[in-house]
Amino acid sequence: TWTMVNIVEEQVERIREQIGDKRVICALSGGVDSAVAGALVQRAVGDQLTCVFVDHGLLRKGEAEQVEKDYVAVTGARLKVVDAEERFLSALAGVTDPETKRKIIGREFIRVFEQAAREVVAESGEEAEVEFLVQGTLYPDVVESGGGSGTANIKSHHNVGGLPDDLQFTLVEPLRELFKDEVRKVGEELGLPAEMVWRQPFPGPGLGIRIIGEVTRERLEILREADAIAREELSRAGLDRDIWQCPVVLLADVRSVGVQGDGRTYGHPVVLRPVSSEDAMTADWSRVPYDVLAKISNRITNEVREINRVVLDVTSKPPGTIEWE
Ligand code: XMP
Repeated sequence: TWTMVNIVEEQVERIREQIGDKRVICALSGGVDSAVAGALVQRAVGDQLTCVFVDHGLLRKGEAEQVEKDYVAVTGARLKVVDAEERFLSALAGVTDPETKRKIIGREFIRVFEQAAREVVAESGEEAEVEFLVQGTLYPDVVESGGGSGTANIKSHHNVGGLPDDLQFTLVEPLRELFKDEVRKVGEELGLPAEMVWRQPFPGPGLGIRIIGEVTRERLEILREADAIAREELSRAGLDRDIWQCPVVLLADVRSVGVQGDGRTYGHPVVLRPVSSEDAMTADWSRVPYDVLAKISNRITNEVREINRVVLDVTSKPPGTIEWE
């Protein structure tokens, strides 16, 4: 529509004005927001942009590959991949408090980017500093972090509230005034593929805030498998566009007794949290058909050895937030 064309043109113009002839890097997270923000900046300043993808080890199954292959193929963007799993897991060792997790992940993120930026400059053999950092911050993120129209700080979303004081970049935030549905339309306008544009939202801190308890490599593996099964079955049932997002949450410090074959098990529960929403500010729990829930539950408990119980979250937002942390 003309509205989307206008938004794109206006943003491209603003980005050009802000960045000038300087260098800019974009934090690709695997999600639609950073993908669209990056594509907008790519359109505005072309090769002055280098996309940086930090694999923090908190991603879902197959996500790193999607960014490395699909995004590059579509946008032609320069991409630098940083494998930082070890670093993030060490920083998170022993940490259970949600806001502390967010702050640590946000802090490490920025530091890894600063390092990546120095490398980008070094590799290009130029003197120019990377001065700008693209972030896919949306309007609801701004509001919920208290940066918008005076709403209380509910959670410090790492792309707004958790930035460290020694931040060396000026932020470029072309989606700051947009809601999710508008971001998707902008993505379509920019020619990004439907799978990317319609991908469900996923938080920056990733699976780190979907493990209730300490984040470890083993727990991430368990959650990654369960999450992949839930996503696969929801897609197969044709529910991708009805469900806003469906966090799968691992209650890592909870165990319950189960039985499998002749044996007693003492495993962990996972929570399915399918929600419908317009903008994530409010949400309702999705009435997923029982047979789809049954399929997900059977597959998870059969295929993921450590999980012996699947439960459904039937809380709306408010009072529950979408994520458990
Ligand atoms: P809540 O849990 O606050 O989530 O109802 C609202 C939306 O925000 C996402 N979310 C985050 N996104 N960093 C992000 O980038 C975060 O720390 C964060 N916490 C929640 C959540 O997935 C939902 O879409």
